[in-house]
Amino acid sequence: MSLTIALSKGRILKDTLPLLEAAGIRLLEDPEHSRKLIFPTSRDGVNVVILRATDVPTFVQHGAADIGVAGKDVLVEHGADGMYELVDLNIARCRLMVAGKVGAQKPDRRLRVATKFINIAKRYYAARGEQVELIKLYGSMELAPIMDMADVIVDVVDTGKTLKENGLEPLELIMPVSSRLIVNKTAMKLKQADILPLVQLLEAAVAERVAS
Ligand code: ATP
Ligand code: PRP
Repeated sequence: MSLTIALSKGRILKDTLPLLEAAGIRLLEDPEHSRKLIFPTSRDGVNVVILRATDVPTFVQHGAADIGVAGKDVLVEHGADGMYELVDLNIARCRLMVAGKVGAQKPDRRLRVATKFINIAKRYYAARGEQVELIKLYGSMELAPIMDMADVIVDVVDTGKTLKENGLEPLELIMPVSSRLIVNKTAMKLKQADILPLVQLLEAAVAERVAS
């Protein structure tokens, strides 16, 4: 078989590797200690590629990777064209939220919203009939309200520690987030015999992990 699985370094990799192992796929080298981008596995023909988290849906959409693991936040932001979302892996759980400076009042002018989730924020405020000014950032969103560049941010929150340590507070929940197994639509047709058993093994591994 020939299967390429796209993962991102950090929490998704750390939480996905045990699930892949339960499905009989083990990386032959530790990606956290390598500069390689393509990793062979214990299953002949199965390779894992390591990407930026936000690039995983792009590689799967274009079929460069057959399968990927991406946060629901990243998937909704990117759009689901050309892929199926097959399994909620129940890992990297967090919430996509609006957050702002503790106790800050809503301004009389247009709200300035800093985020890397521009599409989600646009839709969220449009659905509320609110006109806002969006400011695109790629990281350290928390700085924007602190430095008075924005009134609020849209970012993921887990423990709330990052917000707290930067004088911010969660204000509104946009959506709960966990990582999903995504599959390229064409690969699903052409490689169904390889992909479906893997999906089933992963589902079983997730169920076992949730039960324990
Ligand atoms: P990129 O490198 O592309 O900017 P990133 O730095 O956000 O992405 P990660 O921090 O590895 O990448 O996050 C990957 C996914 O894990 C996110 O898309 C989100 O779904 C989830 N996530 C992010 N932060 C947390 C957190 N603090 N706790 C739990 N899950 C999180
Ligand atoms: C993410 C996110 C928040 C933080 C929230 O950052 O961007 O800053 O986690 O988690 P908390 O509520 O538990 O504090 P991450 O740890 O991924 O660092 P990053 O800046 O590299 O994305």
